[in-house]
Amino acid sequence: MKKFYKNKKILVTGVTGFKGAWLSQWLISLGAKVYGLGYNPNQNKNLFYKLNLQKKVKTKLFDIRNYKQLKSLIKNIKPSIIFHLAAQPLIYESYKKPHLTFDVNYRGTLNLLEISRGINSIKSIIVVTSDKCYESNNSSKGFKETDLLGGIDPYSASKSSTEIMVRAYRKTFFTNKKNVGLSTARAGNVIGGGDWSLNRLIPDCVRSLLKDKVIEIRNPNFNRPWQHVLEPLKGYLILAMQQFKNPKKFSGAWNFGTKPNSLTNVKSIVKYMIGFWGKGKLKIRKNKLYEQQNLQLNINKATKYLKWYPTYNIKQSVRFTTDWYLKVLKYKKKPSLVTLEQITQYEKDSKIS
Ligand SMILES: NC(=O)c1ccc[n+]([C@@H]2O[C@H](COP(=O)([O-])OP(=O)(O)OC[C@H]3O[C@@H](n4cnc5c(N)ncnc54)[C@H](O)[C@@H]3O)[C@@H](O)[C@H]2O)c1
Repeated sequence: MKKFYKNKKILVTGVTGFKGAWLSQWLISLGAKVYGLGYNPNQNKNLFYKLNLQKKVKTKLFDIRNYKQLKSLIKNIKPSIIFHLAAQPLIYESYKKPHLTFDVNYRGTLNLLEISRGINSIKSIIVVTSDKCYESNNSSKGFKETDLLGGIDPYSASKSSTEIMVRAYRKTFFTNKKNVGLSTARAGNVIGGGDWSLNRLIPDCVRSLLKDKVIEIRNPNFNRPWQHVLEPLKGYLILAMQQFKNPKKFSGAWNFGTKPNSLTNVKSIVKYMIGFWGKGKLKIRKNKLYEQQNLQLNINKATKYLKWYPTYNIKQSVRFTTDWYLKVLKYKKKPSLVTLEQITQYEKDSKIS
């Protein structure tokens, strides 16, 4: 992987976001030339700026719905690989702003693909959607890539409709016509240091723990495929590399979930976190909005064809995450240093060379 990514020109959309910051930090450490597109960054709490990535990633800040600006950005960079992460990614926000959620998530991807099909330098595109793109059935049996797409809330539906659009572009313009790899990646709820989003479990916990406040949780018994952010990112990196080399074999839809039988509920995650932090209390709060109770991904396809497999179990992932916040917030270590140390540790534990 290190040999492959060295000096590759890569565009990351959503670079100023949580996953975008970890991904670009990792790509830089692999020797890639990283370019970014972000929008409306919150500079006070934003991991991207805490890692000083604005100095290492040539980044433009504008709305991905602006077709003209996006076209000129991609034409100027001439990337060979694109990781498309830009989105409105929060379910709760999607209830408040359904039009914006559909518009950014669907039209943003549509703009990117329409522009990319006219640019010859591009050889591999990963569109990040979500495990929530599947039709909800509240079963804890893992969804396979071939299962029915659905989505009741606006966020989930925006991602499943994006899946169908990407498939049409793949079949019509990319893999079959231009020999360019185009895949969607469906991952679960990620955790990791440096996430400050509102209404996400780990950032909410850290905010409460820091102020010695009780942690309030909405859905204590909901199961989620929690995973450390580096797990799906490893999947995106392997997939982008494989479909670059062999677009016909590797282009498609891919799940990057947790190890089988590792469903963990919200309450257990918070309890692990309190344990690793050293103190804290939790309280259950009622939730009236619809969210799927169980969500699990079947990862057989990625394991078989990409040789991708999660490195950590859920407890190790919560420990790794809590460590990041403790080192940065309590022991005042530099966020960039802690992040790089964790990437190196993860590469070692995953036997990545
Ligand atoms: N975090 C998770 O648990 C999770 C789980 C499944 C899927 N995902 C998906 O992964 C991707 C990244 O998520 P994240 O957690 O890093 O989110 P985030 O909110 O931290 O980052 C979102 C990024 O998208 C950019 N963006 C938002 N609106 C934009 C617009 N109109 N134009 C251009 N850029 C825009 C933001 O500036 C930011 O860089 C998203 O596509 C999300 O749906 C995330």
